[in-house]
Amino acid sequence: MKHLLVVFHSMTGGARQMAEAVVRGAASEPAVQTRLLRAVDTLTEDVLGADGYVFVTPENLASMSGIMKDFFDRTYYGALDRIAGRPYATLVCAGSDGSNAVRQIERICTGWRLKAVCDPIIVCTHAQTPEAILAPKTIGPEDIRRCEENGAAIAAGIALGIF
Ligand SMILES: Cc1cc2nc3c(=O)[nH]c(=O)nc-3n(C[C@H](O)[C@H](O)[C@H](O)COP(=O)(O)O)c2cc1C
Repeated sequence: MKHLLVVFHSMTGGARQMAEAVVRGAASEPAVQTRLLRAVDTLTEDVLGADGYVFVTPENLASMSGIMKDFFDRTYYGALDRIAGRPYATLVCAGSDGSNAVRQIERICTGWRLKAVCDPIIVCTHAQTPEAILAPKTIGPEDIRRCEENGAAIAAGIALGIF
């Protein structure tokens, strides 16, 4: 059995729905067991024990969320040189941008020598006002479908060993 690890953080629910959609998509591949972990709960041994990764974060203040960054800060050196070559994908939930959070995760994963196997997905919630930004989010069906497809693709690649 191969293992896919989905690490996420979410404040108003958007990134959580995206991560859950990845897990649903990955479930189409019976040879891969998928774990969905909150970034705050994810330890170095969880990273070491997985065959591939999906990182799902909000963009906050032109950055990945602080709790997602804390996950990378806590696990980076413990996993360095021990996970090289494994596949990963990045998903960002953003109000209007998301590109800097993608760049930051790509830089960290380049340091880990992970292999990007899907184009990053950015879902924009179009939240602009403080009230809209702080409100609970509902990700639309088309974006949910993209996240499910992302999960199915990375799980299929892991199962087949093509990455
Ligand atoms: C403190 C804060 C800062 C934010 N900064 C950005 C930003 O720099 N770029 C952006 O596109 N969206 C920004 N947003 C909007 C969030 O990315 C958006 O609300 C998204 O839905 C958050 O994901 P979540 O629902 O999983 O928490 C910010 C939101 C908060 C609360």
